Amino acid sequence: MTSSQSDLDRRWWKEAVVYQIYPQSFDDTTGDGIGDLQGILDRLDYLDELGVDVLWLNPVYDSPHHDDGYDVRDYRAIREAYGDMDDWNELLEAVHDRGMKLIMDLVVNHTSDEHAWFVEARETPDGEYRDYYVWREGETDADGNRGPPNNWESGFGGSAWEYDEPSGEYYLHLFDVHQPDLNWENPTVREEVYDMMRWWLEKGIDGFRMDVVNVLSKPQEFPDDDPNRGWVGMGHVSDGPRLDEFLGEMATETFDRHETMSVAEMPEATLEQARRLTGVDGPLDMVLHFEHVTLDYHDEDGWWTVRDIPLPEFKRVITRWQTGLDEGWNAVYLGNHDQPRIVSRFGDDDEFRYESATLLATLLLTLRGTPFLFQGDEIGMSNYPFESLEEMADAQTLGNVETAIAEGRIDDFEEVKELVRYRSRDNARTPMQWDDSEHAGFTDGDPWLPVNPNYAEVNVAAARADPDSVFHYYRRLVDLRHDEETLVYGEYDLLLPDHERVFAYTRTLGDDRWVVVLNVAAEPTRVDLPKVAAADFVVGNDGRPDDADERLDLRPYEARVYRG
Ligand code: GLC
Repeated sequence: MTSSQSDLDRRWWKEAVVYQIYPQSFDDTTGDGIGDLQGILDRLDYLDELGVDVLWLNPVYDSPHHDDGYDVRDYRAIREAYGDMDDWNELLEAVHDRGMKLIMDLVVNHTSDEHAWFVEARETPDGEYRDYYVWREGETDADGNRGPPNNWESGFGGSAWEYDEPSGEYYLHLFDVHQPDLNWENPTVREEVYDMMRWWLEKGIDGFRMDVVNVLSKPQEFPDDDPNRGWVGMGHVSDGPRLDEFLGEMATETFDRHETMSVAEMPEATLEQARRLTGVDGPLDMVLHFEHVTLDYHDEDGWWTVRDIPLPEFKRVITRWQTGLDEGWNAVYLGNHDQPRIVSRFGDDDEFRYESATLLATLLLTLRGTPFLFQGDEIGMSNYPFESLEEMADAQTLGNVETAIAEGRIDDFEEVKELVRYRSRDNARTPMQWDDSEHAGFTDGDPWLPVNPNYAEVNVAAARADPDSVFHYYRRLVDLRHDEETLVYGEYDLLLPDHERVFAYTRTLGDDRWVVVLNVAAEPTRVDLPKVAAADFVVGNDGRPDDADERLDLRPYEARVYRG
């Protein structure tokens, strides 16, 4: 072994491939139109066949679902539509029996406004639960009008403060009005959260995906934020004064005692922050940052205007995170339940659906960091052609659009239809397409969100039957990643940084070198790449290439992986 190989800081979670299940849309076995835990159990063989190691479940807790489960009413109970704790126990056991692992979503920046703590807090202002949440008196302006304590906004539109008439105070909600923020300054709140986390860990889970966990600490003076930034307030909360202390304490009190993985979702995370928090002394294992999935947000207009992403800029962002974490570790993802479908956003979901979906698979599975696959991407599912707000459920889209209509900034849905079709989180949340039967085999009832009309062509049954499908390509790449240590631990180096179409890089560990070449364009591209002249072609999405030397003729969205 070379020294670099023996020095590897090996961890099971670095070698794993994660598959994200959005339970509500995965598989419904009861006919109520909502996916459930038995549905996941029924599909474990499929996930085994795909070869993934870890399943991450979006929240399955009891919840009134104002934000698809991210508003938790009871952290220790399962949402009725999903089944009960016996189903969950059965699922954990079945996952472990197959040698896979299970991680749960941890949503502790806020609870549901129907959580017993908040119900008490609202009803009894001088009771012990009041301080579990963040309450402030409003500000009175020069004309004597009362308004919210500061200018912070909810991530879903409008003020982040909601007035509570009976007590005359406002409560903070960085997300939906039904998601009041917990007061992390209160040590009893922290102890309650750790206790709940220990309860799940003792049940045998393998870790947590931690929802918006970088916003837990708020500066207690609650200063106004720059009114011109995309999400007003985040300037003060995305890396708050006591964040490291809270996360350090959480780690010591909970997951540090187990062999788990901790994955921190951190909106507006900076590289420096992620390095600090995932490095040798950091409390976390890896960070889901947002830099590459906000490149198509407009500088001033944010969510509201789509900006084209120049490939060199995309490569720069990916490369900074690939090379800049030092001892820290990346979580690698392109899409999830909060993003549009990856093939529609970064590829071409029409003429080059197969090619671009498999190109993106190549990227996901050959970068340095733990890959996160989102359900349906492995068969190339695409965005949904929404026609009206009635077809949608996403609190973010509805919040943004309804606030804009109410404030007179837009007239109606029609005005933003194309934007919403591109941007809405509901694109990723439509039901999983299992086969070409009615409702794509997802349910016998009425699906809670409509099934994408392309299900007759794009579905699991068809993909499994076709050896040249997106699914089988994913399977091959997942296998390759499991077999090749260099793809997990190797150094990443970008080639051709300024090339407008080709994304190429090497992964190197000791003497072993791999070269990945992606033509991220709907046109053929010729490129000179001396690094591949003596290398062996290993896998690609368009068969074995004829060009044998360093001059490559790449077809639209062609992806190739070489070794040597
Ligand atoms: C995270 C979740 C998202 C949710 C938000 C508030 O970003 O992924 O779905 O709406 O947090 O909990």
